[in-house]
Amino acid sequence: MMKIKFKISLLLLSVLCLTSCSKTDFHISLFIYNSSDTFMKGYSELLVSTLENNYKVSTYYAEGSQSYQNDQILNELYSEDNKLLLVNLVDRLAAKTIIEKATSLNKPLIFLNRQPLANDLKSGKNCYYIGAKPESDGQLQAEIINEYFISNENFINSDLDKNKNGLLDIILIKGEQGHQDTENRSRNAIDTLMKYGYQVNILNTSFCDWNRVQAEEYIAKIYDEYQNDIDLVISNNDDMALGVIDYLKKLSTYQKDVPLYESYFPIIGVDATSVGLEAIQNQEMYGTVKNDYEKQVEIITTLIPILINNGSMIDFPFTMDSPNCFQTSGIKISQKNYLNL
Ligand code: GAL
Repeated sequence: MMKIKFKISLLLLSVLCLTSCSKTDFHISLFIYNSSDTFMKGYSELLVSTLENNYKVSTYYAEGSQSYQNDQILNELYSEDNKLLLVNLVDRLAAKTIIEKATSLNKPLIFLNRQPLANDLKSGKNCYYIGAKPESDGQLQAEIINEYFISNENFINSDLDKNKNGLLDIILIKGEQGHQDTENRSRNAIDTLMKYGYQVNILNTSFCDWNRVQAEEYIAKIYDEYQNDIDLVISNNDDMALGVIDYLKKLSTYQKDVPLYESYFPIIGVDATSVGLEAIQNQEMYGTVKNDYEKQVEIITTLIPILINNGSMIDFPFTMDSPNCFQTSGIKISQKNYLNL
């Protein structure tokens, strides 16, 4: 009798689980281009913890290899269990083949942070991109810089123009070659400064692949040559700005009690990672532009059930910036406002 009762309750339990757990039985895979990227770490942690409320999630890291990522993606595309793929590409140009495969297998794809070419994205069925707006990130960096210098007039008539040449002498630290955020952030920051009336002079520039150590090594190599000329460092992200700060803090001229931007020059990043914000609070980094991944996660998690259930986009609450693309605006954070945030 006891045995029969036990079997019945087991049966009931599994039936219960089948109904109440069916939501979490949807399987979603997340592919991240590199596990060592600081910004993507915070982003994927939030994304996974949010998704895990409703789905089974598997995360794969490609460690910078597109062919490795292709294998990971193919495996999941062919898995019956898998309902949707979230892809942070290694190489944006690899999107085309992935889109073709996913479309032929009827699997929805959401690309995040690394943007496929517009035509590739449009060619697929149920393919979307969610990311930042790099043009406005660059413009907002220039706004923060202009708030610091006040105006070109003020800049050239003050000690802020280090070598008194009347030019805004800049070190520009770029992310990865070919990444949409690299070129667009850089170009828009420089163009907006010129619109404000500054005579911009790029002293030196380099790609440092979003990486803190690479940026520290880069500035270490060029610092002696340019140290008396640098008026400003513009970095495509916080981690590379922090690499410059790491270098300056090791110099014998470093004064712990003076804001770093007063002893040396302002350094501006993008992202507002937790380490970036800490550097603003410590008066080391002058400012940054928030790469709003919380909003991006919200857009992704709102889009997923629609795509999985073949729903309609008519009531989707976010507006597309270009066909199948949702891009979040940056938010300025600097010494002027971070305390009020
Ligand atoms: C950018 C971000 C960088 C880096 C890069 C990776 O949007 O600002 O810090 O994470 O994406 O693709």
